Amino acid sequence: MKKLVVGNWKMHGSRASNAELIQGLLASDLATTAPRADVAVCPPFVYLADVAAALQGSAIGVGSQDISVQAQGAYTGEVAGPMLRDVGATYAIVGHSERRSYHAESDQLVADKARAALSHGLIPIVCVGETLAEREAGQTEAVVGRQLQAVIDTLGADLARIVVAYEPVWAIGTGKTASPEQAQAVHASLRAQLKSARSEAAVVPLLYGGSVKPDNAAQLFAQPDIDGGLIGGAALKAADFAAIARAA
Ligand code: PGA
Repeated sequence: MKKLVVGNWKMHGSRASNAELIQGLLASDLATTAPRADVAVCPPFVYLADVAAALQGSAIGVGSQDISVQAQGAYTGEVAGPMLRDVGATYAIVGHSERRSYHAESDQLVADKARAALSHGLIPIVCVGETLAEREAGQTEAVVGRQLQAVIDTLGADLARIVVAYEPVWAIGTGKTASPEQAQAVHASLRAQLKSARSEAAVVPLLYGGSVKPDNAAQLFAQPDIDGGLIGGAALKAADFAAIARAA
């Protein structure tokens, strides 16, 4: 399977710094070749149109960091799927742990956002992951299984059209990465759950995220059920992001 490497810029950047980052990405081998991995970046909403325009014609795609469950209407502050498509997005991250925790997004809301993305022609990147307390209590597979089950129940026959990102909350932005074996174990359980729900969903790309860096990416991507990465901090440096994509 072709690997997928997605940069999540989170709430970072400015027109000036984005231009510099994009220049770096376009100057790297990502923009033209990317023969082995698909690559995309997810800037803040306000920069999405600019970034998509700057990357147009390159092999680097664009996604959003969130999406409304609604298609349009009186929903102040929300951004709808058709708008994201309109400005050039292909992917929409849904259920990132920062949204689940700081914005109290429930498993069902995340599943509904995944459905909204699909219904507007976007590929949802559904994030799941356990906290350190949950891991230490031996609940990792139960937690990610519950998060994924809401998506399975909501999407039905569309399940095979998503991307899933396993991001242990304790590894995000902390410099602590899950070991390749720890990540693989969770990915294998997610793969089994997807496959038992719908046989065609066995091929859903499973990304790992959480302190992926150029020096640990290759080992993670070598695991049989790790199909790529969702990259935060390292996606803000063109050289690091390009090196990670190359490792894929
Ligand atoms: P990180 O973030 O690579 O900075 O740990 C990953 C993410 O939250 O998507």
